[in-house]
This record gives sequence, structure tokens and C-alpha cells, in this order.
Amino acid sequence: MAYISSKVIFLLFISLVASSLVSANFYNEFDITWGDGRGKILNPDLLTLSLDKASGSGFESRNEYLFGKIDMQLKLVPGNSAGTVTAYYLSSKGANWDEIDFEFLGNLSGDPYTLHTNVFSQGKGNREQQFHLWFDPTADFHTYSILWNPKQIIFSVDGTPIREFKNAESIGVPFPKAQPMRIHSSLWNADDWATRGGLVKTDWTQAPFTASYRNFKADACVVASGKSSCSGAPASSSGGNKAWLSEELDITKQERLRWVQKNYMIYNYCSDTKRFPQGFPPECNMA
Ligand SMILES: *[C@@H]1O[C@H](CO)[C@@H](O)[C@H](O)[C@H]1NC(C)=O
Repeated sequence: MAYISSKVIFLLFISLVASSLVSANFYNEFDITWGDGRGKILNPDLLTLSLDKASGSGFESRNEYLFGKIDMQLKLVPGNSAGTVTAYYLSSKGANWDEIDFEFLGNLSGDPYTLHTNVFSQGKGNREQQFHLWFDPTADFHTYSILWNPKQIIFSVDGTPIREFKNAESIGVPFPKAQPMRIHSSLWNADDWATRGGLVKTDWTQAPFTASYRNFKADACVVASGKSSCSGAPASSSGGNKAWLSEELDITKQERLRWVQKNYMIYNYCSDTKRFPQGFPPECNMA
């Protein structure tokens, strides 16, 4: 008897550990919000969005998050994707919203995608950084992550940090820390600006365009009825040690970040002197 129960407890323990490592079920986590059937959850770990001349499509998370470490694998529209934009972002609601953006701007076959990033706090963005990638993001799935904690927001690609937005409240820059955000994604036509500033148009003979998603993982604080899953109970009893809540870039990751910024960053608002003739926004002078 004692033997059986300890075995049962052991199995229970194993399944709890395993469930925190396995990706979440798309059916439980997301709703397709628009696109009249062009967005599809094909199985618990595969979602696709598509775009044709009549419409794009999109989905959003059922949960609202206030801080988290959120991973998603995306495989972007292959071939001639010029004019298309795949946006994957966190956003709150209202006029003074917060937002953390990944946007993938398509291109002609063989030309690189642009990964556009931005951070809005209290309705103000204008903090764009853009990158090319060190791989073809249409050939396979790659992991795009947002680490959002009270100290900073870190954007990563396959575990390599590409951007850090530090909490600069001490010098008067609002930081997203009070408004819960939902995950959103959409695939739409933006050929008026996306590719080479709008010069290259979407080739509708290639439609439908499709982007795929899998392996969603959120180690995050979920807010429901005004209460965060992270508040109250001590961290260790709320399902994980939540080390990410105070995570920062270690020396190795700082070096990786510098490598990306040196070799793959194609635009940084913090060095656009034409745009800010009166001086850069205060957070630009922090690092
Ligand atoms: C498309 O390719 C051109 C040429 O390599 C590049 O300059 C541009 O950044 C790429 N991305 C977009 C979105 O235009």
C-alpha cells in the first residue's frame, strides 16, 4: 500500500514537472479573432494565419499577462512575401496603452526579412529598432521570445538577445508595469510601406500567404479579475521559482546582444540624428 501510494505520488510529480516543460495547447490559449476562416488552429500545437487579396487574419491570447517570459516559434511566409507583415506582439488596451512589438516585414524571394521592434509605454512608441536575421526565417520554425519583468524588456531570437529596453523610470521614462497585456498576432497586407518603404508591392498571384506558429510557452503572471497569479502566495508555491522575474543579461548574453547589434541591426532610433535634432529620447543615453 505504502509502495503504491509513493509510486502514484512520484508519477504525479513527474507529470507536473513535464507539464511545465511542454508547450501549451493552442485551443485553450488563443482565439482566432478575425479573418473569416483564414486563421486556423490545426492541432493543439499548430496554428496558421493566412492572407489573400480579400483579407488577412489574426489571433489573440485568452489570458492577460503582467510580466512573463513568453516564447513562440514562428515560420514566416516563404517565397515572395514582399508587402506582407506578420505582427506578433503584446498589447494592453485604451488610449494610454503599453505594447511590445515584433513585426516581420516580408521581402522579395532571396531578399532578407526585416524584423522591426518597438516598445510603447502609456501610448507613446517611436522607439524602433530593426534587424536582419542570421538565418532564413521562412525555412523553418525559430523561437521569438519576450522577457518582460520590472527591470527590463528583452527581445530574443533563438535564445540570442537582440534588444534590451531597460526600465528608465528613474530618469522619467514610463515603463510598462501596470497594464496587463494580451498576446496578439496578425498577418496583413501593408504594401503601402512595408517593403523598401512601399516600393515593392504584394504579388497577389502568390496568395494565399501563410505564417505558422507552434511551441507556445508562457512562464508568466496571468491577471484575472484584477488579481495576478504571481501575487500573494510565495513564489515557490505558485508553480515555479519565477527566476525570470528578476532575470538580467549575464556577461555572455550581453556579448551576444552586442554581436547582433553590431552585425544585424539596420535601424536604431537612438542613432537617428535627423529624427531627433533636439537630442535623443532620455533612455537612449542610459546604457
Ligand atoms: C528587403 O531587401 C532589401 C535589399 O536587400 C533590403 O534593403 C531591405 O531591408 C529588405 N527588407 C525590407 C522589409 O524591405
